[in-house]
Amino acid sequence: MRTSGVVAASALVLNNAASAAQDLTNYVLPDARTINGGNTFPGVSLPFGIIKLGPDLYTGSDSYSGYQATGSFTGFSLLHESGTGGAPKYGRVADARGSGTTREMSATHRAGLYSYTFPEDSTSSNVVVDVSHVLPSFRGQGLGQSYLGGNISVIEDPQSGSLHYEGFGSYDNVSSPLGLFKQGRGRYSGYANPPLLQGWNRAPKWTVYFCGHFDNEATYKTFVGTKPLETELASYDDTLSVTSRVGVSFLSTNQACKNVNEEMPRDISLATLEENVKKAWNERILSKITTTDTTNNTNLQLLYTSLYHMNIIPTNKTGENPIWSSSEPYYDDTFTLWDLFRCTTSLFHIIEPVAYEEFIRSLVDIWRHDGFMPDGRSSFSNGVTQGGSNADNVLADAYVKGVRGAVDWEDAFKAMVTDAETGPPNNNNPRDRSASTKEGRGALPDWLEHGYITTKYKRSVSQAVEYSANDFGLYQVASGMEKADEASRYLNRSRNWRNQWNPDMKFQDFTGFLGPRNTDGTFKKQDPLSCGSCYWGDDYYQGLPIEYSFNAHHDIEHLVELCGGTDAFVARLEAMFTPGLNPSGEFKFSKMPFNPGNEPSFTTPFLFNYVGRQDLTVKYSRFNAKSYYQPTPGGLPGNSDAGAMESWVLWVMLGLYPMTGQTTFLVGSPWFSDLTIHLGGGKELHITTAGGSEDAYYVQSLKVSGNTWVKAWVTWDDVFANGGSMEYVLGSEPVNWATDPTHPSPAT
Ligand SMILES: *[C@@H]1O[C@H](CO)[C@@H](O)[C@H](O)[C@H]1NC(C)=O
Ligand SMILES: *[C@@H]1O[C@H](CO)[C@@H](O)[C@H](O)[C@H]1NC(C)=O
Ligand SMILES: *[C@@H]1O[C@H](CO)[C@@H](O)[C@H](O)[C@H]1NC(C)=O
Ligand SMILES: *[C@@H]1O[C@H](CO)[C@@H](O)[C@H](O)[C@H]1NC(C)=O
Ligand SMILES: *[C@@H]1O[C@H](CO)[C@@H](O)[C@H](O)[C@H]1NC(C)=O
Repeated sequence: MRTSGVVAASALVLNNAASAAQDLTNYVLPDARTINGGNTFPGVSLPFGIIKLGPDLYTGSDSYSGYQATGSFTGFSLLHESGTGGAPKYGRVADARGSGTTREMSATHRAGLYSYTFPEDSTSSNVVVDVSHVLPSFRGQGLGQSYLGGNISVIEDPQSGSLHYEGFGSYDNVSSPLGLFKQGRGRYSGYANPPLLQGWNRAPKWTVYFCGHFDNEATYKTFVGTKPLETELASYDDTLSVTSRVGVSFLSTNQACKNVNEEMPRDISLATLEENVKKAWNERILSKITTTDTTNNTNLQLLYTSLYHMNIIPTNKTGENPIWSSSEPYYDDTFTLWDLFRCTTSLFHIIEPVAYEEFIRSLVDIWRHDGFMPDGRSSFSNGVTQGGSNADNVLADAYVKGVRGAVDWEDAFKAMVTDAETGPPNNNNPRDRSASTKEGRGALPDWLEHGYITTKYKRSVSQAVEYSANDFGLYQVASGMEKADEASRYLNRSRNWRNQWNPDMKFQDFTGFLGPRNTDGTFKKQDPLSCGSCYWGDDYYQGLPIEYSFNAHHDIEHLVELCGGTDAFVARLEAMFTPGLNPSGEFKFSKMPFNPGNEPSFTTPFLFNYVGRQDLTVKYSRFNAKSYYQPTPGGLPGNSDAGAMESWVLWVMLGLYPMTGQTTFLVGSPWFSDLTIHLGGGKELHITTAGGSEDAYYVQSLKVSGNTWVKAWVTWDDVFANGGSMEYVLGSEPVNWATDPTHPSPAT
């Protein structure tokens, strides 16, 4: 029960509704998706804010975003991620204090405010500032974080005589001093030298600076270095409440002081900050999608809580990058594009086009200075790449949807060509020593030489299908930029997933799946329903062969042909959703081959649109969304993955699905009687449904901007470029309304 106070504190910030009507934060439940692996961050933050101030709990297992439902508080720290798996990151610069103290908190972009009320019976009240605090990892595998050293000192202002404290902490990049390198899941045993402890993305050393003010006179004590631990202790004799304002910076203590002084001047009230936080979420994020349909509160909570958790990271660290100086924006904490490219970045574009364009520019600027765009990135360092170089898909998506602004597309395309042509040096990640997992495409030598990836490389099959999509991204940008040679080269390469197709793999009556190839080019024997541990060392990463075999989304027509035609494709898709058909139970949900909790499965329920069964898209996408996604603490089928899961369910609720890298959106069935998506510049997309209910959700007919629509897809230009309308009639029985069988399959 210890944590209920915490969630209440952060809920207070977001839910203490004043004037209800337009305060959409009323529907945001910050503690939703925090447990059962959701790992969302329940504290307080602005959208993409540097400060994410919230609770850190210790249970002896990983607290990815700091919080767990049980355990003991180790402090309330200023820097966090949200929704990640892998291993915890951050948990830096914490205020810690024994039990009984009430804390309320709020945040600006670069400063946090703590308001403490001490228990009446406390003899002396104190606040500990622990610079050495980090979120520990218990996963082994060299994924922990370490405190390397720092400093803290109390400074007297020569003019006013008032005191503040300042200092820094440095983290990561030491070998395990504690023997924490346990045998992970068995597969990781037996290293001669324990790898470095550097957090999930194996970043080199980085430093955060801080500057804090207490609003009451205090007695200060500093302890430096023995445990190792750097602490500041402010003690009060008869004070019952204290406010502490702390700024952070990645540049210097001076900048940290400037940040807190500018953003959080003395005497600013908690209430004012709370209002500002609510205003930022309302104006920048939540109000971008509105509805007058308030019949179902759960749906509203699902909508707005998902929007909230989708926009906590990446972190806008523009102006706070210590590694290089640049006039371009800088975004950090991308965890990871592998998770985000399907549903999140395309929705990010629509919800926050300004931040999205900055994010795209930042990807290109990272290439300029670091040599590669990231797939994952945090604490100013690229890592980790799980499959392809998926920034290519993100850039292609932005390009084909007309994102221009201040993006330098010549450089952007060069960054994509680097991914496609330059193999990154091996970073010797102990989880996969076959090639780089830091950035770029580790298995590129095979891709260039054979047009497929052999088992010389780990995750060969899932990497191959992703490299195909990445190359399709290059084709899209090259053809838009009238680079004919490059366009034809990459279109050709985008079809290489076909070289990985093993016609002899068989499951029930279905033959032909993406399969691993030995180093001599022959196919390795492979069960379509097994991927071993489905992890770093296997042929398929976090998805079954049957699942990855649907992932040639740019070349669907050819895929349908390989699968034996339309009827066979429908049957194969339906098999994905059949409970019990995955008896080995690699994914626990109903033991069906489809995994509602992981990204390689995201698009699968929508593929029925390509084969004349839009009704089945509605049936299965809706069933999975309703079954596995709730606005409750445990309401996600796995990690939030930095909001990737939330963005999937948001698209389902909107009744659209983005085919990233193409202008295509597949048509589903919206959950509200009306929705307005505010696109900026006064443009709006109005979506309405008539006749819909929990039992009546099949599309009967559709009009797009007044025109009767008989295609199961729309394009960016149809509905988003200038806004427009989509008017659905829904009913309880499926109707074959999408009679136009054409569909985009651009690589076929
Ligand atoms: C640490 O703080 C002390 C003052 O408390 C200061 O003299 C010293 O220069 C600082 N060290 C570093 C490395 O910043
Ligand atoms: C660790 O830090 C040292 C000194 O800062 C640096 O020389 C070294 O390259 C770092 N190692 C890694 C793996 O980041
Ligand atoms: C409200 O929405 C939830 C989630 O979509 C659904 O499970 C529930 O049945 C709906 N309630 C009503 C009364 O329609
Ligand atoms: C990102 O941060 C910079 C520096 O604080 C700011 O100028 C910019 O407006 C921010 N971007 C967005 C979309 O808020
Ligand atoms: C396409 O690939 C095939 C073989 O994989 C090759 O023969 C052909 O030259 C390629 N075409 C282009 C334009 O790269």
